[in-house]
Amino acid sequence: MKGEEARRVLREINRKFVERYEKIDGSDEFFIYTARRLRQSVRVNTLKVELEVGVENLRTRFELEPVPWCREGFWVSGGRVSTTAEHALGVVFIQEAASMLPVVALEVEPGMHVLDVAASPGGKSTQIAQYLENRGCLVANEPKPRRLGVLAANLQRCGVLVARVTQMDGRRFQGFPERFERVLLDAPCSNAGMVRKSYRYLQAWGRRRAKKLSKLQKQLILAAYTALKPGGVMVYSTCTLDPVENEEVVDHLLRHTDAEVEDIRVRINSHPPFEEFEGRSYTSEVRRCLRIHPQDNDTEGFFVARVRKP
Ligand SMILES: C[S@@+](CC[C@H](N)C(=O)[O-])C[C@H]1O[C@@H](n2cnc3c(N)ncnc32)[C@H](O)[C@@H]1O
Repeated sequence: MKGEEARRVLREINRKFVERYEKIDGSDEFFIYTARRLRQSVRVNTLKVELEVGVENLRTRFELEPVPWCREGFWVSGGRVSTTAEHALGVVFIQEAASMLPVVALEVEPGMHVLDVAASPGGKSTQIAQYLENRGCLVANEPKPRRLGVLAANLQRCGVLVARVTQMDGRRFQGFPERFERVLLDAPCSNAGMVRKSYRYLQAWGRRRAKKLSKLQKQLILAAYTALKPGGVMVYSTCTLDPVENEEVVDHLLRHTDAEVEDIRVRINSHPPFEEFEGRSYTSEVRRCLRIHPQDNDTEGFFVARVRKP
């Protein structure tokens, strides 16, 4: 598919999406990759199997290509992993390659106390538990009752023993200051990066919703930061590329707290973050964040910021 054709396909479903994203990344590649289906990828769950053993086992039926930024991540071709016993038993977890990055950037170590503010369906919570090696504590929070079941089921399927599932609005973590050494806020967002997974995300996308989510994200990031211990690390991520949900939210945190943005040192291609957009300037520290467009690594679009509390 060429650039114009990709734009036409996307425009037929949601014209306003194409208009908005022409301002964010007007390249042909952006629209070509956004219109294209995602590659299948998995994370080997080392709570259930040694990495080498899990990989050898998958190699008997599938072709694997390592994900450069996540040791346990692989793109898989040659069949559907979702129909295998390994998937049913939680030996592997089907997870989009870019979405493995936030937890890698969090640098979790065994024994830590970790909060996942917006956890369902649990892709990142199960990855956190894997790096905790089932030692320490993971609070996996999700406010929506209908999304709690799948979170609990995934934690159980993956053999997670250190998770406590909570059900509350993430903004309430404002009331739990300095409790966690690591905090992940994988925020509810307008999901533009997920269009490659299903065009239903394209149908659901709207500019007003993105603006409304930006307000919620700003409240959530302040609450999540409050729950972080001094010296601790928080990662803010979204699977969308609109600056109002990304750079603007991190800028909000930096203007209201003493948070410091840190570099994320991983092997991944990315786009420079916006230091200014639509006449609004952001703190220059936002340039340390990772803005990953779909064409950079042939993945979902993602935005990741790593901050430390001094
Ligand atoms: C991007 S998804 C999280 C995906 C998850 N981290 C994973 O990797 O599987 C965002 C989640 O935030 C939840 N959410 C929505 N409003 C919230 C709020 N006020 N506080 C905390 N979570 C919220 C949504 O229900 C959704 O499950």
